Amino acid sequence: MIVTMDARFEVRIADDAAALAAIAAREVVDVARAAVAARGRFAVALAGGSTPRATYRLLAEPPLATQMPWDRTLVFFGDERGVPPDHPQSNYGMARTALLQHVPIPPDHVFRIAGESADPDAVAADYAKTLAEALGVRRGEVPRLDLILLGLGIDGHTASLFPGSPVLKETFRTVAAVHAAAASVPQRFTLTYPVLNAAACVIYIVSGAEKAKIVKAALGDRSTGLPAAMVRPSDGRLLWILDRAAAAALPARRTS
Ligand code: 6PG
Repeated sequence: MIVTMDARFEVRIADDAAALAAIAAREVVDVARAAVAARGRFAVALAGGSTPRATYRLLAEPPLATQMPWDRTLVFFGDERGVPPDHPQSNYGMARTALLQHVPIPPDHVFRIAGESADPDAVAADYAKTLAEALGVRRGEVPRLDLILLGLGIDGHTASLFPGSPVLKETFRTVAAVHAAAASVPQRFTLTYPVLNAAACVIYIVSGAEKAKIVKAALGDRSTGLPAAMVRPSDGRLLWILDRAAAAALPARRTS
């Protein structure tokens, strides 16, 4: 594994997708245990898509499953598609199958975005309220999650923050309903930058040669304007965990 440090973020490069999942799962456990030790709880927003599935599966089995503080863990979702929980495109459904149904997390500690609802704006408003109440923040305050897991789309989107979307300019609402015409399921729900950039830790999990070009662009400077490049926790840790294929276009960097 290659570790590179940059003033703005840390990059870890794993040999392959399996090693990537192992590193990511280990990081989740370490962040979870530190959060419980410091604050008595671990509030995490899970990433959707397909890449995180291998990481979730490792967290669902020993040895990592027995190291996780499940009874002190609160699970949210970074984004969701406008589908019911048992739909193959549901991010909640993927996390439940790979992880949540296998571990002793109290059911009322898992906060699903009700993507199937007929009123998307009400879903976003309700989820913002749920997030604030669960984390004990007052209206108008931005909830600080202990960890947000994110993926990266080949167009530079992350969560459901897509290039050119008006939601990229959102500075107040913490959750938004968005229409992403290019997405597999256009109706989306997403955490916004105020929440992403308030997190104590953000970890990107990115795998595959098809992501190499966009990884290079996203790890460049903010001027690219790529949604994923705008995630910079103001008082938190930003870690990119890549496999070699996804890191292939990165320039040789200082490594340790
Ligand atoms: C979603 C995700 C999205 C995902 C990227 C990468 O709901 O689609 O939240 O942001 O992380 O599209 O997806 P893959 O891991 O499937 O490449």
